[in-house]
Amino acid sequence: MSEIKIIFIETDGTEKIVENAKLGATMMDVARANGIDGILGDCGGGCACATCHVYVDPAWQAVVGNPDEIEEMTLDMAGEVQANSRLSCQLVLNSEMDGIKVTVAPLV
Ligand code: FES
Repeated sequence: MSEIKIIFIETDGTEKIVENAKLGATMMDVARANGIDGILGDCGGGCACATCHVYVDPAWQAVVGNPDEIEEMTLDMAGEVQANSRLSCQLVLNSEMDGIKVTVAPLV
């Protein structure tokens, strides 16, 4: 397997499914390449802008794990942070994530 499926729910509730997300890419890069609304990735994946904020579906939280300290500090700049918040530029795709579902957080 070299590609996985990701289900994105945009802020207006639109579901977009990406079937060919490459392993090793970041979820932010996949979102931008596929025109997912609300994922800007302004800092290019440097964990510095929080414009790639997503909520990981609770069923997938154990797979992605928790943010590290630097990601948590950047998440503090984002609005509407929840327990399942992650910065999608910090989520490097692996085969265990096949079918993962995330909701795009509102930009503030
Ligand atoms: S792209 Fe800037 S923090 Fe993720």
